Amino acid sequence: MFGVPLYRYHTVTSTNDVALRLAEEGAPEGTLVLADEQTEGRGRWGRSWHSPEGKGIWASLILRPEGEVGGDLSSWIALGIARALREVAGVEAEVKFPNDVTVGGRKLAGVLVERSTGAYIVGFGVNLLQRREDFPPELREVATSLFLETGKDWDAEDLLREILERIEEVYGRLRGSPRS
Ligand code: BTN
Repeated sequence: MFGVPLYRYHTVTSTNDVALRLAEEGAPEGTLVLADEQTEGRGRWGRSWHSPEGKGIWASLILRPEGEVGGDLSSWIALGIARALREVAGVEAEVKFPNDVTVGGRKLAGVLVERSTGAYIVGFGVNLLQRREDFPPELREVATSLFLETGKDWDAEDLLREILERIEEVYGRLRGSPRS
């Protein structure tokens, strides 16, 4: 089951750092690292990921598929997240290839997959509660949050549960399909 065991922190550099260390120590598939705040959250291409305290879901999941995963794992994960957001929050979430989840062209969530020996670290960030002024000026026009899209404050834990279910669903299908 994804999300078990769960390692929960107040502040970390990056949940991917913690998950990488746990994976090296042999943590099983499904292990989830969750933090209220990241001081060095990172995105693809060496970009930083703004992760203010209590404003979003900052999480990393450990996956241990047998063999290589066909296709781009981060796109499949982004698809799972987009589905959960569409179904639960009713937003028009889309996957912008390869790993962005956008609404109306603005980024709502992102996925960063990193490799460890025998494991994939699937880091994902979902902007939940930010008001426009919570984003740094350079992100105000390009990022969005679930609050900005719906006018509601969302419960991170409820949403996380749905997201993990959808990720598990797409991952199950990915593993069931013939490898390329
Ligand atoms: C991107 O859009 O470039 C990917 C962003 C990924 C952000 C998440 S937040 C949780 C996990 N820890 C990190 O440092 N990054 C990912």
